[in-house]
Amino acid sequence: MRVINTIAEMKAARRGWQGTSQLVGVVPTMGYLHAGHLALVHRARAETNLVAVSIFVNPTQFGPTEDLSRYPRDLPRDLALLEAAGTDVVFAPQPADVYPPGFATYVVPTGPLSERLDGASRPTHFRGVATVVAKLFNIMLPHRAYFGQKDAQQVAVLRRMVADLHVPTDLVVVSTVREADGLAMSSRNAYLGPEDRAAAVILRRALEAGRARFDDRRADDPAEVQAVVEAMRAVVQAEPRATLDYVDVCHPDTFEPLATLGAPALLALAARVGPARLIDNYLLRRDATWDTGTTGA
Ligand code: PAJ
Repeated sequence: MRVINTIAEMKAARRGWQGTSQLVGVVPTMGYLHAGHLALVHRARAETNLVAVSIFVNPTQFGPTEDLSRYPRDLPRDLALLEAAGTDVVFAPQPADVYPPGFATYVVPTGPLSERLDGASRPTHFRGVATVVAKLFNIMLPHRAYFGQKDAQQVAVLRRMVADLHVPTDLVVVSTVREADGLAMSSRNAYLGPEDRAAAVILRRALEAGRARFDDRRADDPAEVQAVVEAMRAVVQAEPRATLDYVDVCHPDTFEPLATLGAPALLALAARVGPARLIDNYLLRRDATWDTGTTGA
């Protein structure tokens, strides 16, 4: 496994793969890896010949009062996990290389897709995500790039960016990997003490309650949307350690609010549990399986 720390070296390595029949798979991450990240790496390993994982805690996607400085980091552990997962290249650039003095150009997603839900709570977040992913794509030129369903709005924003800017990379979305009790794996779970960790399962429980409340026979009844939202809200509000940020039922591609549950619908919520802001979602499909995630290692 080769570890690359500069953009110049990464571009040179990428040029070396040009003209070969290698299919390049890229997994962008902010490090502090867990089984959710590794599921993306395994998928890339299975589908492409050259697997490159980026590790970069991207400052532009954090708000001024957010957790950039305390975001967890452990590069040696990440490298060991990636080596064991069969990664070919790790790209871990420095912030000053990615955002040099004079940097002035952002990719700015617009409209409800980037302005509702996480976009409302974190106004510059998706601008930062789209900008850094565009940069990583231009540096690493992936044929395929792998993202987790756990961050459903991020996936929708990036799909839109790829379509709108004619980016020649296919996005692959991997199901959410969960802890044994159902909590979606997240680097931010490291912020949770034992009591908050136990309480954090409330996000998943709320999604289960929303799913249980959803009655396919009443999918065309607008009252069902509110009933599902209220079922989820009630579960979170019953947990004193959790503060609800949002709970929503929306279209999984546009993130527009839904009038009925007759089309594909996403149940999405965010809550603060102790020091951590956590998000989770379920994809509802009227006629297919529920995508509720798998339990990881
Ligand atoms: P990060 O939070 O490190 O996540 C990297 C990738 O892993 C994302 O695509 C995320 O959706 C996926 N992921 C995280 N937890 C997961 C889980 N429990 N199951 C499945 N996949 C999971 O998302 C980011 O970093 C950044 O915004 C990034 C895209 C790297 C841009 O900076």
